[in-house]
Amino acid sequence: MLENDLSSKNYHQATKHSYLSVQLDPNYVDSKTQPSAFKQYPKFYRRVQLNINHPIHSLIYLTGAITLEKAYKDVAFKLRVNPSAGGLYPTEIYVQIRGMPEIVDGIYHLEVENNCLTLIYELIDDGLESYIIQSKCIKGVIFLISCVYYRSSWKYKNRSLRYCFLDSGHHLGTIAASAYLHDKDIQLIFDFDKLALNTDLGFENKEFVTACVVCGEVEEKNVRRLRLKVPFVCGTDYFEANQFIEDGYQVTALQKSSKQQLEHPKFEFDKDKFYQTVWHRRSNRRFRKQLISQEDYFKILQQLKQPIPTESCEAIKVYSVVHRVEGISPGLYQDNHLIKSGDFSEHTGYLCINQGIARDCAVTLFFVSDYTNYQTAMQLAGFLGHRVYLSSNYLGIQCSGIGAFYDDETQSFLETTKDILYAMAIGI
Ligand SMILES: Cc1cc2nc3c(=O)[nH]c(=O)nc-3n(C[C@H](O)[C@H](O)[C@H](O)COP(=O)(O)O)c2cc1C
Repeated sequence: MLENDLSSKNYHQATKHSYLSVQLDPNYVDSKTQPSAFKQYPKFYRRVQLNINHPIHSLIYLTGAITLEKAYKDVAFKLRVNPSAGGLYPTEIYVQIRGMPEIVDGIYHLEVENNCLTLIYELIDDGLESYIIQSKCIKGVIFLISCVYYRSSWKYKNRSLRYCFLDSGHHLGTIAASAYLHDKDIQLIFDFDKLALNTDLGFENKEFVTACVVCGEVEEKNVRRLRLKVPFVCGTDYFEANQFIEDGYQVTALQKSSKQQLEHPKFEFDKDKFYQTVWHRRSNRRFRKQLISQEDYFKILQQLKQPIPTESCEAIKVYSVVHRVEGISPGLYQDNHLIKSGDFSEHTGYLCINQGIARDCAVTLFFVSDYTNYQTAMQLAGFLGHRVYLSSNYLGIQCSGIGAFYDDETQSFLETTKDILYAMAIGI
């Protein structure tokens, strides 16, 4: 029985920021107490060093690679292909590989810090398919995303439920980008037996599966559930439970979204340039209040209209607060439809908890939804957010995700009753 009897909408409601809530709890933490951001299985597990010249290795490598190391106040920061709220990286990636030359059929953990795959489970007649897509067998790769939630709840407490899901959506975005670069179609799956998988993968209450990506040939064949449980290994060096997050995850894991036809996006990026973009993607820390061109702005919005390859349907609406786009009057727009005109740059800066990036950028975007499944909708918002990062950076436009905003005041500014899932700033 769950301790909190809250519906999934209430979990969003309960993690709203307001002017007062931020004043009362500004999330100050002692950085020395940050839990470790890298999971490692014990040394005796077999490991495969990733070789970027091997097509499957390279597909996997690009989903979690460290792309920049920098030191700040004597602490080393390792930034990755995926962005993460507060740079706390709660997400992990597991891959099941079946029927690929030179690779043992098994479930592997992607050990990001050491750039290798750790074999945590060898397959016989069993596998992840039985939890995800029954009576089917995947020859190829299945990616699983999970969250080691304490990495984020350490700082962001209950609001980290949102950040875990958004980060997971971004991680799905990195998988989609890598699949595109490797000419592979993928399918994102959200509605499956996550709770059984958490148990069988030995995650206890400390880590939870959020989504899965199928990338391979589908065969009609029964696959058994895992015949052995994977032993528990903690994803952090220490742990403090948060009942709200654990309940919030469970409640939002169960509701099924309505179904839609699976459709694949068709991107026309120059692959070499796109590869460089994936590799150099960064969050912008300061905008110079420059104009961006109308053409670039529309190109970025266009990428958001491309289909998301999943059967789970959760509609996400995008509101744009235009501050600095050539030839477009400043104002609030929804799908090119002007809702109200005016220079709202100061106000959006305020709404995003007085963050200069939301004030000085060219456009502040808000993703809004009336979801059925909150966990899925948040991940789709993160997934779209990742498209915004990559399509902006591809055009030389900077970008940053924004998870912190005053929820109710933003809703009334946008004149919507739907929940605000995520915000983004783009500009120069
Ligand atoms: C869900 C999410 C929320 C974020 N929220 C903010 C934010 O409110 N303000 C901000 O300056 N950066 C925000 N960021 C950007 C992160 O701080 C950034 O991704 C992280 O420091 C890693 O840096 P990188 O993106 O350059 O790799 C957010 C990123 C994500 C994915």
